Amino acid sequence: MTTELVIHDHDGGIDDYLSLGLLLTMENVKVLGVVVTPADCYATPAVSVTRKLLDLLGRNDIPVAESTVRGLNPFPREWRQTAYIVDHFPILNDADDIMTPLVPETGQQFLTRALLDAPEPVTLLVTGPLTTVAAALDSDPAVEGKIRRILWMGGALNVRGNVDPLTEPGHDGSAEWNVYWDPIAAYQVWQTNIPLVLCPLDITNHVPVTSAFIKQLGRNRQHKLSEVAALCYSLVMNQGGYYFWDVLTTGYLGRPDLYTVREETTAVLPDGLSQGRTVIDPHGRRTQVLESVDVTRFYDYILTQWRR
Ligand code: RIB
Ligand code: CA
Repeated sequence: MTTELVIHDHDGGIDDYLSLGLLLTMENVKVLGVVVTPADCYATPAVSVTRKLLDLLGRNDIPVAESTVRGLNPFPREWRQTAYIVDHFPILNDADDIMTPLVPETGQQFLTRALLDAPEPVTLLVTGPLTTVAAALDSDPAVEGKIRRILWMGGALNVRGNVDPLTEPGHDGSAEWNVYWDPIAAYQVWQTNIPLVLCPLDITNHVPVTSAFIKQLGRNRQHKLSEVAALCYSLVMNQGGYYFWDVLTTGYLGRPDLYTVREETTAVLPDGLSQGRTVIDPHGRRTQVLESVDVTRFYDYILTQWRR
């Protein structure tokens, strides 16, 4: 089995932590570090949760870095606040001290250095906006050649976005949040030659986090990761529809056989009423798009992996 070097850049949402939890169960992956981009979270509790989770799962050898980039369109405050709640889960607070190191450099500096130092090109698993990646690309032109591919939860190609025009006046609702937070960064990454694998709302809409799934997870709560996951998902059951956005993206690294992929040419609209919209465009860049997944086997896979 070949080992893929991976850096996870997440933005502190519920499914971001659980993506990391899933990633750590994969035998074919070596995680070089985790960067927290301050988008769907408040940075301090999100970094704390990330480090405590790594401690809990016995992986305090993996460094964590806090990105200091800023987006254009902040995520809703109510969503961001869940980082504070998760940080106070009893299961994450058995110890007085956190062992997983927080590196002294910013997330964007860490990402740049980790890529340049890596012995071979690295896969970036990005489950938040692309702003930190764009900052690393800006900081050194050699960074681009050290990225093997970007696997990104982002975009909405042939479906509606999840940005709500009622709370985001001036937008038409066509964008997905990870793009909308910083459309310019996404646009910038689209101009590179880095292979891009996209997990858009088109596929995630088919994979909801159901009440039955959470209850099933809860029955596995003698396993730490199942307990964390069941607690996390319970917090968002009142948010009118939660999906395996980031977890579905991450699963592709461990079980690509569960997915179908198609190639498209796509583009990002950087401004205007539809800023952050991703579109099929014959003049756009080549993009691998996760198209479908065997939903039943995906649920089984997650339940099995999190039984630890
Ligand atoms: O639109 C879904 C995305 O927004 C996911 O990455 C979720 O974690 C939130 O950040
Ligand atoms: Ca996310």
